[in-house]
Amino acid sequence: MENKRKIVIVGASYRAMHGFINNIQKYYGEQYEIAGVSDLTIDKVEDLNSYIDKNFKAYNDFDLMLAEVRPDVAVIANIDCVHVDYLEKTLAAGVRSVVEKPLCVDAKQSQRVRDAIRKYPNIEAVTAHNMRYHPASLKIKEVLDSGRIGKVRSINFTETLDVDHGASYFQRWNRTMNASGGLLIHKSSHHFDMLNWFIGSYAKNVSAHGDLLAYGENNCPFDKNEIADNCHKCQKTKEECRYRTELTGPRYYLHKSNLEKGDYTPDLCVFSPDIDITDHVSVGIRYKNGVHACYTLCAHSAVESMRVEIEGTIARLEYEVIYSSDPNISKSEGDLNGHYQILRVIEFGKPVETVKIPEVKGSHGGADLLMCKDLFGGESSDSKATLEDGLQAVLIGIAANESMRTGKVVELESLEKQETFV
Ligand SMILES: NC(=O)c1ccc[n+]([C@@H]2O[C@H](COP(=O)([O-])OP(=O)(O)OC[C@H]3O[C@@H](n4cnc5c(N)ncnc54)[C@H](O)[C@@H]3O)[C@@H](O)[C@H]2O)c1
Repeated sequence: MENKRKIVIVGASYRAMHGFINNIQKYYGEQYEIAGVSDLTIDKVEDLNSYIDKNFKAYNDFDLMLAEVRPDVAVIANIDCVHVDYLEKTLAAGVRSVVEKPLCVDAKQSQRVRDAIRKYPNIEAVTAHNMRYHPASLKIKEVLDSGRIGKVRSINFTETLDVDHGASYFQRWNRTMNASGGLLIHKSSHHFDMLNWFIGSYAKNVSAHGDLLAYGENNCPFDKNEIADNCHKCQKTKEECRYRTELTGPRYYLHKSNLEKGDYTPDLCVFSPDIDITDHVSVGIRYKNGVHACYTLCAHSAVESMRVEIEGTIARLEYEVIYSSDPNISKSEGDLNGHYQILRVIEFGKPVETVKIPEVKGSHGGADLLMCKDLFGGESSDSKATLEDGLQAVLIGIAANESMRTGKVVELESLEKQETFV
């Protein structure tokens, strides 16, 4: 026990539990001990403790936790807009840091990340871009690096979220620009990092369009007097409101104390006037190495899907995954519940080649497990996303938000030269 390295968890969040705590304890419990968990309140940590039947030391004061535990590693997994506050503190204390995406939510914060990168070059810090570790992403990267499709010229990347997953961003803290930077930062930073990683370059400039098409007060089909601020207080049934969610499982247990106190619960009304983020975006990106990328995210679809089409000088690579958690849809032809996925290489004038994707069990298609193996299993790979990688992914989102606001093409370099950056 004494020789174990100490990890502290910042944020008694669903992500901390699902992505890190479960995997660390199950697979790396011999080498690592979770020596403290901090959140806004002790109750919030105790909610987590009782849900997963643990007794982690609970803190509502991060500085105290840092001073008392003197951890080897800090996993920062609370809400997006405060990641940089904790990153600065952990790096200043010389603690190896694993930071959930996105590293930050706006241009001002991105300069603080830039400063931290400059100030602490020798302290290991990674961005938890687990999507890189999805078996399909690793296979795509392997095919690209092998030279099989030649030099990449262009990429189309499309993601759809079904109304369970997509609406969840509009039912939680994620629904404001202040807290999350919007889906272009909160969600798409994963995808932008994948694009950067596949292409082997960083973005030069960005143009974007986006809108709020399904959620928000302007899309509310009901009389405002008939609905409540939270689903658990609302009379509308699932038949009447397809977005209705129930506080069950982790949505209930991780927020039990908040519910009792009448505080925040993750079932906020998707038609609230508080929502100031978009639910549909399309982004054009030109890379420093000349590659062109086209990106679309839709957060109100009937299915979950991702399509990646990469055109190279020798061949085209295409990947598609599609599935649905809706039992009625998944029963239909094509068995969408089976996470149908296919990866193909199509060379000019040759038969189509299907590339096998290995199966890995676990959350996010096995990606969390493989990322934890890389971070805690002593097998350091070059798939790790650095702070610079995490920052470059967010900068695309910041530029896209700026482009949506101004209608102009935004040069990433110009962001770093804004006054806010001085
Ligand atoms: N890599 C992935 O696949 C993935 C998946 C989901 C979420 N995430 C990221 O993980 C993080 C947590 O997301 P989640 O959905 O699990 O969140 P969550 O809502 O379950 O938990 C967020 C926690 O932050 C705490 N918090 C709220 N305001 C705070 C403040 N001002 N200061 C400090 N703490 C505060 C809350 O009390 C809560 O415990 C986010 O950054 C999210 O982007 C990553």
